[in-house]
Amino acid sequence: MKYFQPVALEHASRLVNHGPTVLVTSADGPRRNAMAAAWSMPVEFTPPRIAVVIDKRTYTRQLVAASGAFGICIPGTSLTDLTYALGSTSGRDTDKFERYGIEARPGPVLGMPLLEVGCAAWLECRLISEPHTEEAYDTCFAEVVAAAADARIFAGGRWSFRDDNADLQTIHHLGGGNFARSGGNLQARPL
Ligand SMILES: Cc1cc2nc3c(=O)[nH]c(=O)nc-3n(C[C@H](O)[C@H](O)[C@H](O)COP(=O)(O)O)c2cc1C
Repeated sequence: MKYFQPVALEHASRLVNHGPTVLVTSADGPRRNAMAAAWSMPVEFTPPRIAVVIDKRTYTRQLVAASGAFGICIPGTSLTDLTYALGSTSGRDTDKFERYGIEARPGPVLGMPLLEVGCAAWLECRLISEPHTEEAYDTCFAEVVAAAADARIFAGGRWSFRDDNADLQTIHHLGGGNFARSGGNLQARPL
């Protein structure tokens, strides 16, 4: 998509720093999938690493374990219904990309399916293999190897939430399909 520009890896953590609900995309050979995740966060600076909670019972987790990779796509408000649907159905039963008419492009480094239409940004992530952690916890750790964002809302390493980009503003799950949007920026001033 013409508005998407690469994000320097040193700025990748800022894409999830404010806790947006994300879509975790995955693929293994011809199998592909996407689910919603409200729980993700940066955990390391250099190289940039993030943690995402991916329930061991999900189909996503199965594909991530098989491929060692996943994508994080950050939906804007126009994808609120889709985000909720992707978090309420399992890809075990159906190809969600076909079912919901989702367009995806292969990621530049790992080939993960990445959504751009309606999304503000994406990150491609390589799973950090930790057998004990993977067995014991739902939390997955990964290194961010590529990132890009729609320059209308994230540019120069900064989010800019404005009236004219409300459709791309990030969504934040409050529970039961109720979301808040990121809204406007507030610049702190020295006291
Ligand atoms: C808004 C929203 C946020 C969610 N956040 C998470 C999350 O952080 N971690 C998780 O494991 N599941 C989360 N879920 C549930 C998964 O998205 C859900 O289990 C999904 O159906 C798994 O799909 P899959 O089996 O195709 O991988 C969330 C669901 C919704 C609707």
